[in-house]
Amino acid sequence: MMENDIERTLFSEEELKRRVAEMGAQITRDYEGKKPVIISILRGSYIFMADLTREIKIPCNVDFMAVSSYGGGTSSSGQVKILKDLSENIEGRDVLVVEDILDSGNTLSYLLQLLKARKVASIKLCTLLDKPARRTKDVQADYVGFTVPDYFVVGYGLDYAEYYRNLPYIGILKPAVYEGH
Ligand code: IMP
Ligand code: MG
Repeated sequence: MMENDIERTLFSEEELKRRVAEMGAQITRDYEGKKPVIISILRGSYIFMADLTREIKIPCNVDFMAVSSYGGGTSSSGQVKILKDLSENIEGRDVLVVEDILDSGNTLSYLLQLLKARKVASIKLCTLLDKPARRTKDVQADYVGFTVPDYFVVGYGLDYAEYYRNLPYIGILKPAVYEGH
């Protein structure tokens, strides 16, 4: 059972729903009169993206980008690979990047640079979780759902070795699950 691998729940379904609604309301206010393109970084942000965009009450586009920075372990390799690029041109657009978790900052410092180079009108970053303890790159999010301590967390889109993404809440993974890997 997946639940047996979870040490404890960090954010319940109810807490996630409440916070995501607040974030959506804030983004709706901040982008009033604009038509942003909201970019989900796959795969970790897919559930957050689906819930967040339904709380954004202004016209917007959605697009998706898939990157990988991890082998199969619990820390970033520093190497970012683009597995799937955007479907549309973002030149001149107001861009909001949606990520699951900002950890070392490797993935996002690379990605934000790459997207800025496409001559966007503006670019902001929205992350569900922020783990500042492990930051090695100078990246700050404009919207943060929750700041988390240095635990490896899974669920609500976040994985360990591609499992646990479908847990409806966010939990701390038991270290025994990844120790020895
Ligand atoms: P960074 O490049 O080190 O900032 O890592 C960002 C990516 O690492 C995120 O998009 C996640 O996919 C993954 N990641 C970092 N910390 C965790 C965690 O605690 N649980 C699951 N994935 C994580
Ligand atoms: Mg990710």
